[in-house]
Formats: sequence, C-alpha cells, structure tokens
Amino acid sequence: MQDNLIINDASESEIQSDSFSKSAFGLDFIWGVGMASFQNEGAWNLDGKGESIWDKFSHKKHRINDRQNADVACEFYHRFEEDILLAKSLNFSTFRFSISWSRILPTGVGKVNMAGLEFYHHVIDCCLENGLEPFVTLYHWDLPQVLEDLGGWTNREIIHWFSEYCEVVTREFSGKIKHWLVLNEPAGFVGLGYMTGYHAPGRMGMRNFLPAIHHAAMCQAEGGRVIRKNIPHAVIGTSFSCSFIEPFSQKTSDIKAAKKADALLNRLFLEPALGMGYPIHELPFLNKMVKKYVVEGDMEKLSFDFDFIGLQNYFNVVVKKAWWMPYLGASEVRPPHRNVKELTDMGWEISPDGIYKIINQISQYQGIKQIIITENGAAFKDSFENGNINDIERVAFYQSYLQQVLKAKNSGVKVKGYMAWTLTDNFEWTEGYKPKFGLIHVDFVTQKRTLKMSGKWFREFLGE
Ligand code: FCB
Repeated sequence: MQDNLIINDASESEIQSDSFSKSAFGLDFIWGVGMASFQNEGAWNLDGKGESIWDKFSHKKHRINDRQNADVACEFYHRFEEDILLAKSLNFSTFRFSISWSRILPTGVGKVNMAGLEFYHHVIDCCLENGLEPFVTLYHWDLPQVLEDLGGWTNREIIHWFSEYCEVVTREFSGKIKHWLVLNEPAGFVGLGYMTGYHAPGRMGMRNFLPAIHHAAMCQAEGGRVIRKNIPHAVIGTSFSCSFIEPFSQKTSDIKAAKKADALLNRLFLEPALGMGYPIHELPFLNKMVKKYVVEGDMEKLSFDFDFIGLQNYFNVVVKKAWWMPYLGASEVRPPHRNVKELTDMGWEISPDGIYKIINQISQYQGIKQIIITENGAAFKDSFENGNINDIERVAFYQSYLQQVLKAKNSGVKVKGYMAWTLTDNFEWTEGYKPKFGLIHVDFVTQKRTLKMSGKWFREFLGE
C-alpha cells in the first residue's frame, strides 16, 4: 500500500500502512471486480439474442436519462478480451459478470441460441487463460421480454422458466464455473421494476409487487438447487442489496419506521432463503401476498443452503415515520447535518461506517456461512487533466470502505471477499451513462479505455 495514495483524512488515523494492506485481509481473500450483461455488453440484437425487458424499456421515450440506451454500451460483446486483460492488469483475482438470459434463450424457454453459449465460453475461457476466476451471476435484471409479455415475475410460471434457464447454463458451464450468484438484488429489481416502475419493466403497484416478491424468492432458492444438482462442487451464493438503516430520531415512531424499512430493504429476500419465512410482523401487507400467492409446500422451498451471501452495499439510509406513505408508514430523509460533499454523484451518502454495521448485522444470522461483498463502489463526476483522471474521491471512497470491511473481518465476521463495482464506466440503468462508476473511464464515442487513479490504486494495493 502506497502511503502517498492515502487520501481520506478522516480515517488516516485508522490506516496504518502495515495493517491496511492486501495481506491484512488474508491470503485466501477473494478480490474481484464486477459488471453486468445489460450494462456492458451492447450487441443487444446480435447473433440471435432476444429482446430483454431492459432493451424494450430503454427504447421507450422518456424512460432513461437523456433518452440513452444500452444498444452499444461498452461493447463488451466485442471487447471482452481487452476488458478482462484490464481487470487482470489491476491485479484482481476474480471477474464477476452476468449471463444474459435472452442471449441464451431468445424466447425465454425452449430453443437454445448456440451463439450465445459460445460467447460466454469465450468470456470464461479468456478469464481462465488469464488466471481470473470467473464468478457468474445468473440473473442481473435482464429478463427476456417474451416472458414479461406473459407476466414476467408476476407469473408463477417463472419458477419453471427460470429453472429451465438455470439448467441450460449450469449444464453447459459445469466444467468451467465454480462460483455462482443466483440473483442480483431481488429487492432492487422487484421493488423498482414492479412497484415503483422506475426500472424495467416499469410496472407499478401492489398487484405486481406482491406476486413478484414471492416468485423471485422462490427462484432464488430454486436456482441454488439447480446449480447444486448439476455442479455438486459449486460454491453458490445469491446477492442482496443491503443498507444500514438509522432512525431519524430516537422517537419510538421513527425507530418503528426504521425497523419496517429494514424489513423491506434488508430482510425481505434474505430471511426466506435462510428458512425463516417472510418478515410479516414488520410488514403486515405481506399477509395478503402469503394468502394469494403462496401455495402449499412453498414455504419449505423458499430456503436453500447457500455457501455464501453476496452483500452489496453503497450507502446508509435514514428513516422517519411518514404516515402518508402507504403500506410502510416510513420514508427516507436526508438529515440536515449531512452536507453535499458527503454525497456521491448518485446522491448517495458516503457512509463507510455503514458497511461495517451492515456486515455485522447480517452476520448475526445463524444460517450464513460466509459473506462476500459482491458490490461496493461510487459514482463521481470524473474529468481529464492532462490525459489523466485523478478521481481522488473514488480512491478515498474505496479506502474508507475497505478499512471498515477489514475492521469487520478482524472482529471475527466471516467476510471472504470483496468486489469493486465496477470495472469500466457503463450504463447505469435509468440514469444512463451519466453516473461514472468505473475504475476505468470509457469514451462512449471511441470506446477508448483510460485507467483512472482509482484503477491504479487497486493495481498497487492488490499488487503488493
Ligand atoms: C447495484 C446494481 C448494479 C449497479 C450498482 C451501482 O444496485 O446491482 O448493477 O447499478 O447498483
């Protein structure tokens, strides 16, 4: 670790160059960097790929910032070798990417697109040849549109559809892929896609949200079972978006509101996976879901013995009672003492203490064997100065969060790995290309990649 690259004053006292180093995390710690098919691949209709919900959503007017779409994105479909080599050059040991369901099964189920399988064989082989462990997410939000036309996540049939997709992928790649994540952030894609409509497919309201919750929770466990069946030695996890929730004040009403938000944001998908059922006590609206969509035998099928939990964390959430908010009675607030400097370009609060607290909170569950931080990172407005991007805020962000991960690990929590989000600037869903999360800058006109200071920092930190 280079002392001159330590930037975060606030935490300098906590960083001692001999204790905050790669080796302090242990020799078997997984160091990865992640990306997702829709955000990076482009080639949205090439070589037999079917349309996904995000293709359709981003082709509509007014859905995406500046009317952008991911038809081309970072051209990972054509440039995967360059990007994988870049990941390798930053000294990561693991490369996380997702498989696009509609590239494999353009009609959702049925006929397999051989060109799709071939593409991922190339990606995987390239990782393996370069000594990077491929870490595959089965579902990172890009559902085939044909299945959405049949109801998508609201249709119980999705359990069969998803199972078929998992069968195809796990049989095909069983000899090459050991590490799997079933779903990426179900609370994210179900909440934003089927309740608020902010993400694809843009559906809203409880009648979409409730069935989508249950079916996604069923698929989460079902995917685990399919992987285990086809690849007995696989290391299987699934990821959750997690935020440490603070009540706005110590008033009972705010504390209660914070508990509800915690149940919704952190516990809704995790607890059923652990065999604990849904957090109905804090979220009574789930009673309706259970009555209407849970059929006999489902409660047992919701659980799966995952080898690890993928914890994804970006920010803390402060919650206040809000009587006008339907179902939850709680709302997020930005406390007055926090100023603009402490926000990333997504408006997310920089809160490194939160990753420590949420790791600790989640690790309290008996059923969790290991935790891997499968996403953490930040968007900032990057600019070139003499050909360089000196993104010191991002370096400081990573340093401060990593110190807290180390603190959690040193306190005895089984944190097994950490993955930065993300390798290159990419398509940030509804926000389009504006938020820059990459360790590597992408010029979206020329597709030229430029290593940022944060990328260089990882290279040094991991290269020790
Ligand atoms: C996560 C998503 C990931 C990316 C980051 C910034 O919620 O899983 O695809 O958009 O946020």
